[in-house]
Amino acid sequence: MNAPLIDPFARVISYLRLSVTDRCDFRCVYCMSENMTFLPKKELLTLEELDRMCSTFIDMGVKKLRITGGEPLVRRDILKFFNGMSRHLESGALEELTLTTNGSQLEKYAADLFAAGVRRINISLDTLDEKKFADITRWGRLPQVLRGIEAAQAVGLKVKINAVALKGFNEDELFTLTNWCAERQMDLTFIEVMPMGDLGNEDRFGQYWSLKDLRAELATQFTLTDLPDRTGGPARYVKINETGQRIGFITPLSHNFCESCNRVRITCTGEIYTCLGQEGHADLRGPLRQSESNEPLENAIRAAIMDKPKGHDFDYSRQKVDGQVSRHMSHTGG
Ligand code: 5AD
Ligand code: SF4
Repeated sequence: MNAPLIDPFARVISYLRLSVTDRCDFRCVYCMSENMTFLPKKELLTLEELDRMCSTFIDMGVKKLRITGGEPLVRRDILKFFNGMSRHLESGALEELTLTTNGSQLEKYAADLFAAGVRRINISLDTLDEKKFADITRWGRLPQVLRGIEAAQAVGLKVKINAVALKGFNEDELFTLTNWCAERQMDLTFIEVMPMGDLGNEDRFGQYWSLKDLRAELATQFTLTDLPDRTGGPARYVKINETGQRIGFITPLSHNFCESCNRVRITCTGEIYTCLGQEGHADLRGPLRQSESNEPLENAIRAAIMDKPKGHDFDYSRQKVDGQVSRHMSHTGG
């Protein structure tokens, strides 16, 4: 019954990204609109259902679980969920439990997350300038996030910073950010801005800063060595010889990484998206609630994996943004 999850293109699905809430205490301009309507709470999977969902995937061979949002740490009682997942780390069934966070709640939660077995976290930080930080996140405040990062490192969590590369916004901070991370022994990953959500007033195409250009800029001051590390995702890594730091580039738009994709995403309402760049999804909440037995859920999971698309259709190479999907990042999780 619990044969590994393998899709029609022979990709083994071992990585689950789960969004536990669509809510966030920030309103980053590339992620959300100013006035977001969030899902009614009753649409969300309960904490118990989130546990059952993940445990089923772990039974089916998922080894790595990343918790996302929205901002996962604004979900009420989310520590209960993390504490529940730690049993799978203890049994060895789960190899890694991680999260992606904006850092705003880390001062409060870092120690508990470590105690639950989390060892590495990704923190989103696009700028070190207080004013720019307030502008890009609309609601966020930089000092709070910096305190969160400090708290995380203080309890022993390994921190990786994620920065969205935005032309005309943080171009001038390339070296400031890189050096700041190096001083704190933190890896840094740059993300190309993706055509998610409604383009609205934000001219995302104008904000597109190719990571090829960013990398070339970095190479004017540092010696970069390509690293073979692949995580099955869109990131490629280099090492900066001078600092020993790992720099990642997430280039969903300029690179085809789909052939090695090992992941699926679950939204906070229990929809499974087998490709970030496609609209196709399936409901898992129905099958999960249908029976106390996990069989309907397992069948629905296998059916969804058999439908996993070969790849995405994002394309900036023409004069317009093609292959755009209409949902926000907070819906499927970053
Ligand atoms: N393009 C690229 N990255 C995005 N994120 C949110 N929206 C977008 C977008 N449109 C990133 C956040 C965070 C991660 C969760 O997803 O900055 O690093
Ligand atoms: Fe919140 Fe992250 Fe979206 Fe910013 S990018 S609004 S921090 S979910």
